[in-house]
Amino acid sequence: MNLKGRSFLTLKDFTPEEIMYLVDLAADLKAKKKQGITGNSLKGKNIALIFEKPSTRTRCSFTIGCIDEGGHPEYLGKDDIQLGYKESVEDTARVLGRMFDGIEFRGFQQDTVEKLAKYSKVPVWNGLTDEYHPTQILADFLTLKEQFGKLAGLKLVFVGDGRNNMANSLMIGSAKMGLDFVILAPRSLWPEGELVSLCEGYAKESGGSIQITDNLDAVQGADAVYTDVWCSMGEEDKAAERIALLTPYQVNAQLMEKTGKESTIFLHCLPAVKGKEVTEEIFEKFADVVFDEAENRMHTIKAVMVATLGNQ
Ligand code: CP
Ligand code: NVA
Repeated sequence: MNLKGRSFLTLKDFTPEEIMYLVDLAADLKAKKKQGITGNSLKGKNIALIFEKPSTRTRCSFTIGCIDEGGHPEYLGKDDIQLGYKESVEDTARVLGRMFDGIEFRGFQQDTVEKLAKYSKVPVWNGLTDEYHPTQILADFLTLKEQFGKLAGLKLVFVGDGRNNMANSLMIGSAKMGLDFVILAPRSLWPEGELVSLCEGYAKESGGSIQITDNLDAVQGADAVYTDVWCSMGEEDKAAERIALLTPYQVNAQLMEKTGKESTIFLHCLPAVKGKEVTEEIFEKFADVVFDEAENRMHTIKAVMVATLGNQ
């Protein structure tokens, strides 16, 4: 599998085989790191980490993943550079592309990360935009594979803000990989019809399925129940409205009971607001797997950098 020179902007751009290759490469890098073995695949490579929004996991994953492979990461926070306000995205991209070998971007608009890729001409990795969070999905898939030994055929239910970056990216990834994917959300927070149709097309190819519903009974048979914050970064002013809409969709003991399965796991991309989208009880019950998922951000992000930019 050759992904050299490719950007990682949305999972829409990747085939199921390429997605599985990245998940499996991450598993391999993880096993090696547990034995104290790191690589040299990014030796001599400089990587820019642009963050318009805050981050714990994504920033640390790119930093450690890069250093583990012998590269140099440079953090460029929102107040450090002029991206988009004193200098056009196109110009900053062309400058960074002359100096860096790869660029990570976390921020608001998907258009910005796409422009960075177009104008820098080096691999650009999407570390979260308002629309998508593709690297998170690789970590979620690695975690599901560790738990269940497979992806295709699993029933994954995302509960909460069904039109946020996580819901969108999980839907794309699940549809490509043959999962039975459900978005359980109030009607006003359903994903865009156009994206749902696109994903239904992917699901048809992979043997998976997509269901969008506001009926809590849809958790029945879930292998994994997934949630995310009710207000994504930049939407803090919507808190009261979201609490009113989403309280019935909290992941709590009753909802987990409704799966009808003892083996159902709970996943969360983190950071979590306990007492809102998930109760403390459920969060703590599944803390081991949720923090495996967080750790897996590092191994999967490393895999993306190694695959698209690495020397081997
Ligand atoms: N899950 C995730 O992206 O976490 P951070 O916001 O801490 O990077
Ligand atoms: N939907 C959340 C994801 C955080 C990782 C946000 O955008 O804030």
